[in-house]
Amino acid sequence: MPPSVVEITRREEFSASHRLHDPALSDERNRELYGICNNPNGHGHNYELEATVRGAVPATGMVMNLTDLMRILRERVLPQVDHKHLNHDVPFLQGVIPTAENVAIALWEQIEPQVRRYGCRLHRIRLFESRNSYVDYLGPAE
Ligand code: NI
Repeated sequence: MPPSVVEITRREEFSASHRLHDPALSDERNRELYGICNNPNGHGHNYELEATVRGAVPATGMVMNLTDLMRILRERVLPQVDHKHLNHDVPFLQGVIPTAENVAIALWEQIEPQVRRYGCRLHRIRLFESRNSYVDYLGPAE
């Protein structure tokens, strides 16, 4: 019988501010491109972050212990972004335009090595920027 593959997901929330602005472009072009998200003093979001680990179900019955996944997010990741200004306060986002896409990629890079330490495989980062808008990152293209 083929192994049963299951995806498990932990969801956490954080609040942060950001500004979408490309310093290589004119102020006018930035306003056209990013609209109200280009507001000079930034604006905030209540983000929801979902990390999904995918794998075969072993004898333990757990793809990965969800408590371990929760701890990775709460102890290693959220303190770096919660109640921070993503443009200014977060070392791993320096020089990155903090769109949801780019933040999801950066969060993957923070979380994936931690998940790998447990011998597990991160499958997806889903980042909600608002209730109805989210992005998915499935890792680097192979
Ligand atoms: Ni925004």
